[in-house]
Amino acid sequence: MGENGNLRKGHGEGGGNPLSMVRNILNPQHIRHAHITGWGMEVPNRVVTNAELEAVVETTDEWIRSRTGIQERRIASERDSVVTLAFEAARKALDRADVLPTDLDMIIVATSTPEDIYPTTASRIQNLLGATRAGAFDLSAACSGFVYALNMGAQAIRTRSIEKALIIGAELNSRVLDWNDRGTCVLFGDGAGAVVLEGSEDAGGLLSCVLGSDGSGAELLGIPTVGRSSIPDGWALHKIHMDGREVFRFAVHIMQDSVRQAIDAAGLGMNDIQLIIPHQANQRILTAAARALNIPESMFYSNVHRYGNTSAASIPIALCEAEREGRIKPEDNIVLVGFGGGLTWAAAVIQWQGVPRPQKRGLGAALAQSRREVQYVAAFWRDRAMRTYRRVEASLRGSPAKNAAMREEREKKRRKRDDLVDPPNDRNPK
Ligand code: UT7
Repeated sequence: MGENGNLRKGHGEGGGNPLSMVRNILNPQHIRHAHITGWGMEVPNRVVTNAELEAVVETTDEWIRSRTGIQERRIASERDSVVTLAFEAARKALDRADVLPTDLDMIIVATSTPEDIYPTTASRIQNLLGATRAGAFDLSAACSGFVYALNMGAQAIRTRSIEKALIIGAELNSRVLDWNDRGTCVLFGDGAGAVVLEGSEDAGGLLSCVLGSDGSGAELLGIPTVGRSSIPDGWALHKIHMDGREVFRFAVHIMQDSVRQAIDAAGLGMNDIQLIIPHQANQRILTAAARALNIPESMFYSNVHRYGNTSAASIPIALCEAEREGRIKPEDNIVLVGFGGGLTWAAAVIQWQGVPRPQKRGLGAALAQSRREVQYVAAFWRDRAMRTYRRVEASLRGSPAKNAAMREEREKKRRKRDDLVDPPNDRNPK
């Protein structure tokens, strides 16, 4: 690891492009690095064990454990939504980073299970947080979505177009499961994870990222929705369908390829990597990928036994738990790798800094926390005030669209009335 110090300083500007590397060496102030400074997760309280699923579909605890490693998953209650989970994860990440919602420039939510196609989950989170300066959008890249979103946020920071971003992966898979399909319903769970990304002159943070897609595998895994012209037999609208065996093969192959490419793009070797945090789909995929990469399986962080597959939320949830368990230390190089519907894949190398600024304690921490709480309360009342204002304004001014439509409707009815009492033939007698 002796040479790592040099390497770490050298490739932060994100390698590959010789011109930008030369420019950055000549002008180090130019370099901007995107660091993860806060992280948080939220899962529903309800734990559903494999044994409970035995009562719902034709399956066994033994089959699920031995084929997937999953022992239990979290399933949302009726009151939970993808927004409530994402909001709690976001609050924890902002607390950890000690960032105010009003300081955020961008919010990206990676999800395949939004409350609505639009408005986006990100806009709802922006409103709940009171992040009044932030642009917000959802990103759809299935289980690779979180790493895609992380890269979008980091690139915006590196080009200095923004300074702070909130990146969330959140899913309510239980609402899109076909509970008659034992091939999928035992695999998935619900949850959300979030990170705060901040710009810094300090080297490190996101070092490299590899994104990929192969739409020729579109039929292997998906959730059909309203834009389709037809739905093939065996699929159901808004329900997950998957060809498990094919996706398994793809996952093992793409994990080893993309992990290698991302490490290479960061100017590192496998020996420089301390931990790989993969999308949590199946323990057997991790076993096979470790074998293919010729590394011990323990290099892959896994919590699939606790949560099952939470799609775009699985990597940020795993990141939070790996950090909490002491598996990630400052200056460690970690790899995040996702794969899923699309087909899509994404791998990123991050040099972990933890929290670069001194953590506030005691009164300082309490004050910072209460400033955020005040913003959440203000956001709640702002939301109410804006809705009331729009209603009052619309009723005072009248909605032009509504008025025009009503005028036209009234005119149509008047013509019909005229025709009834005074038929056209009678109006102009020959
Ligand atoms: O996040 C998106 C990415 N998704 C993935 O990465 C998932 C990748 N695929 C997988 O993890 C695995 O393919 C599965 C866990 C989905 C399935 O495991 P498998 O070892 O590939 O099983 P299989 O599909 O080959 O099915 C083997 C047998 C079949 O029975 P027959 O045809 O051999 O009689 C299935 O009908 O297991 C049966 N089976 C089940 N049996 C009990 C399938 N699901 C179940 C079940 N309980 N839940």
